[in-house]
Amino acid sequence: MAKTFRVKVLRQDGPQDGSHWETFELPYEDGMNITTVLLRIAANPVTVDGKETTPVAYDSCCLEEVCGACTMVINGRVRQGCSALVDALLKESSDGIELRPMTKFPVIRDLLVNRKAMFESLKKVKGWIHVDGYYDLGPGPRVSPKVQEEAYPLSRCMTCGCCVEACPQFNEHSTFIGPAAISQAILFNMHPTGKVDRDDRLAVLAGVGGIADCGNSQNCVKVCPKEIPLTDSIAEAGRDTTLYTFRKWFGR
Ligand code: SF4
Ligand code: SF4
Ligand code: FES
Repeated sequence: MAKTFRVKVLRQDGPQDGSHWETFELPYEDGMNITTVLLRIAANPVTVDGKETTPVAYDSCCLEEVCGACTMVINGRVRQGCSALVDALLKESSDGIELRPMTKFPVIRDLLVNRKAMFESLKKVKGWIHVDGYYDLGPGPRVSPKVQEEAYPLSRCMTCGCCVEACPQFNEHSTFIGPAAISQAILFNMHPTGKVDRDDRLAVLAGVGGIADCGNSQNCVKVCPKEIPLTDSIAEAGRDTTLYTFRKWFGR
């Protein structure tokens, strides 16, 4: 008989609806990830009790842990469905696999959440580099190898939400912009052109919901799938905002 395993999914029909669990039993296939699991459920959405149900809603795009869209809580740990392999998950928990949506964002349906809060935080810190135009401006300013080495790890952020899911300070009652936006502010402040907006970014980090709201619990850095040194960025942001505040006091 083919080997099977169980998958328990926290379902929710819409943003205002309550949630409930549904359990599915699937035949095991070599190399399965959670995206495959959700596709197999979609092909035959029948629970272990024989109840016909709807396919599970979820988000995905790149299927290679680059876009962050498929982030969800898998066996109690926030991570990406496309890179979470069934073999490893069944070793973690012999009872099967449990899927829930992230808790820090409004649920749209099932495992699909609205990560708008993260993009709003990026807008606040101007998480971009201004350009003068889209014509050929010639070679840009040179970036030293040292700055490249510091910037590259931060540039790997995919706005997945794992860090804010783990952050006790980021919740519906707080205005904290969260570790990802802090780290992106540091990244763009390092860039020779991005520096133009340096003080605007530091003003946001020094203000309400900024760096002072970080409780330094360091949960964020432990769950980042891209191993971004978030606590280094937070420490840098602390130093930079202190200097910024002094400069403002002395009118410079
Ligand atoms: S910093 Fe890491 S955990 Fe946070 S959003 Fe970016 S990639 Fe995801
Ligand atoms: S170190 Fe700061 S940003 Fe990171 S999880 Fe803790 S409170 Fe949140
Ligand atoms: S689909 Fe892009 S990270 Fe999983």
